Amino acid sequence: MCGVVGYIGKNNAVPVLLSGLSKLEYRGYDSAGIAVYNNGEINICKTRGRIDDLRNKLLSAPISGNLGIGHTRWATHGVPSDENAHPHFNQDSKIAVVHNGIIENYLVIKEELEAKGYKFLSETDTESVAHLLDFYYEKEGMDILDAVFKVIERIEGSYALGIICSDFPDQLIAVRKDSPLVVGLGKGENFIASDMPAILNYTRDTYLIDDNEVVVLKTDSVTVLDSNKNEVKKEVFRVDWDVEAAEKSGYDHFMLKEIYEQPKVVKENLSRRFKEDGTGVQLDSIALGKKELENINRIYICACGTAYYAGLIGKYLIERIARIPVNSEVASEFRYKDPLIDEHTLMVVVSQSGETADTLAAMRLAKSKGARVLGIVNAIGSSIAREADDVLYTLAGPEIAVASTKAFTAQVVAMYLLTIHIAQELGVLDTEKFKELKSDMEKLPSLVNEILTKAPRIKRFMHKYINSKNVFYIGRGLDYVVSQEGSLKLKEIAYLHSEPYAAGELKHGPIALIEESTLVIGVVTQEELFEKTVSNLVEVKARGARILAIAMEGNKEIEKVADDVFYIPRTHWMLAPLLANIPQQLFAYYVALGLGNDVDKPRNLAKSVTVE
Ligand code: G6P
Repeated sequence: MCGVVGYIGKNNAVPVLLSGLSKLEYRGYDSAGIAVYNNGEINICKTRGRIDDLRNKLLSAPISGNLGIGHTRWATHGVPSDENAHPHFNQDSKIAVVHNGIIENYLVIKEELEAKGYKFLSETDTESVAHLLDFYYEKEGMDILDAVFKVIERIEGSYALGIICSDFPDQLIAVRKDSPLVVGLGKGENFIASDMPAILNYTRDTYLIDDNEVVVLKTDSVTVLDSNKNEVKKEVFRVDWDVEAAEKSGYDHFMLKEIYEQPKVVKENLSRRFKEDGTGVQLDSIALGKKELENINRIYICACGTAYYAGLIGKYLIERIARIPVNSEVASEFRYKDPLIDEHTLMVVVSQSGETADTLAAMRLAKSKGARVLGIVNAIGSSIAREADDVLYTLAGPEIAVASTKAFTAQVVAMYLLTIHIAQELGVLDTEKFKELKSDMEKLPSLVNEILTKAPRIKRFMHKYINSKNVFYIGRGLDYVVSQEGSLKLKEIAYLHSEPYAAGELKHGPIALIEESTLVIGVVTQEELFEKTVSNLVEVKARGARILAIAMEGNKEIEKVADDVFYIPRTHWMLAPLLANIPQQLFAYYVALGLGNDVDKPRNLAKSVTVE
């Protein structure tokens, strides 16, 4: 949950590192630091706070050099503080280390090193790496690269490490295991980073580093070694995103920009996936045909956070349309529950980053038990994308705001496509029905646009409801799933206590919490369940709740019970969740803004959760 960067070349490393870190700030933003080699020594500047605090600190104590590493932190071991910020030095400040991940056995290593006289200055797990390197390099007299290999034999856990040593000013060493790492290939300069946006201003040619690989970067060369120190021939992976895709482009926040990109994202996903002859969908090169699907008797969909809710929509749809039992599971639970998996299981994992530790572990578990794995992933070349048997990319482009919006929408589209694909292959969706659905799906981008033009109305709701202390989101069926995502968004960025409830469950407890002016957001787009949910809204209204409803155009009955209604355009029932979620995103955004919160970087959260 941290970001690492590194630079070696002919230019000053400092601006490169700072620019890279600012692109990685979404991964963690409670402290930041850089280490730069110059004239025989390594200088570190680090601070609690954000990249801007680091910039300010550097103004009063500038450093420069052609080799450096940097880090933006999301604290796991030790509070956010100057001392715990990375980089960390070895004893004589010759070696500096940055780290994303967790060294699980650091306490054992720390004890061992303390017994040898090593003094630790921070509470971090990372510092044990710096001192262990010191031990093998300085005390045991190993070559620095051998010392790195020795250290990775000893440490357990996950790590993307950037290492520099003042005795080797011509090289930067990087290591990866279970934490993302890419190498950027420049001309007369090379880079490392936890994610592509950090290096896109400098190069589009990259190496995707695999687990247990060690990279030695010099100004004019990059050598990748496997765990046996044999050279690995890597293929150059060319990134074809626009640089602007990772910029705010005039919007106040990334989140707002990403909300407004949704029509384009939906269009992109659909235009590439409908067969030209109009008879079905083509899911990239996914090898999940009739034969493979007939062999499957159970599907799991696993994910975390917002991606989990996209998966839940998939469960409702696949079961209802393709008639296969689907378990939708939170990855952090799934991985420890000894799930029933065999070679007749299809495991679908959904992840924007493709690096979420729990989702990755759930996927590996399923794979080890013989399941076939389909990854629905946004980040190209990410761990999940590389390890899954099949990948369906969600084509949302880089998502920077911590709270997921466009990636969720793209995941929901992926669920629509997957449902159609499975149903067609199994012969339970005929071409006529498909054609109707296709025509409705093709209208989605303009319907999303239509909703976005009504953003000022949602801003007015914000003014009216911003002082709510408790918010309930209720719905039934797919509307319930949408409620869960809406509630999560409000918690994430507005820090408001909100709970999603299946509308029918209200009377089994939560209705006791409804009092004068409690805000209840009722999602009532599923017409066959409309009256049932409306009855539940009437019940909460009778107890003093204020009601904001999200309904499908034409269902005016809702106005009799709701204080305010936001209508989404009429659409197929299956597509309503995608549309109903857009006003929820905008509502959360405006409330967060109105409360003065940092919308793109909410407190305590990180976008990519690469630790358990
Ligand atoms: C974090 C992010 C969420 C995201 C979740 C899963 O909690 O803040 O926005 O939904 O991780 O991330 P993934 O990259 O696997 O979709």
